[in-house]
Amino acid sequence: MAVLEIRKYPDRILREKTSPVNDFGPSLQRLIDDMIETMYAAPGVGLAANQVGVPKQVMVVDVSTKQQDAPLIVIINPQIVLAEGESASEEGCLSLPDYTTVVKRAERVKVRGLDRHGREIEVEGEGLLARALQHEIDHLNGKLLIDRISRLKREWFKKRYLRQTQQREVVKS
Ligand code: NI
Repeated sequence: MAVLEIRKYPDRILREKTSPVNDFGPSLQRLIDDMIETMYAAPGVGLAANQVGVPKQVMVVDVSTKQQDAPLIVIINPQIVLAEGESASEEGCLSLPDYTTVVKRAERVKVRGLDRHGREIEVEGEGLLARALQHEIDHLNGKLLIDRISRLKREWFKKRYLRQTQQREVVKS
């Protein structure tokens, strides 16, 4: 297993739509293991394959906290089949370091897809799990959380974020 490089905004691969997986062989298994290791190393509660440079419909999620254990979830070719309620909560993204914003999402979702061996699965979640599932499926559709905020907030983000990141990088080098 290996920790992969996480692509950061404005990397173009984050905007590409990913393609469905139909080969469940060793290279997919390796990708999934590396994504799990990369998510835990970051650390993050979820990761989509295009965030590590692979435009395929693969996502991993684990919303465990110090207080509460949660299962590690791997979903291939995911689709939201049910979305209920609404919740607004602070959210961040490994591809947008040092940025968080309040994002409105469904409170509960049901996701249908395949497990790492190609068997059909259904995952239901609410709260943080529902949020993480929607966030990663957004990634696989080329969407980022900045697409889910008001235009004003987005314009502020575009103006300030890159400048701040560049400044940080100058300081680091
Ligand atoms: Ni993200």
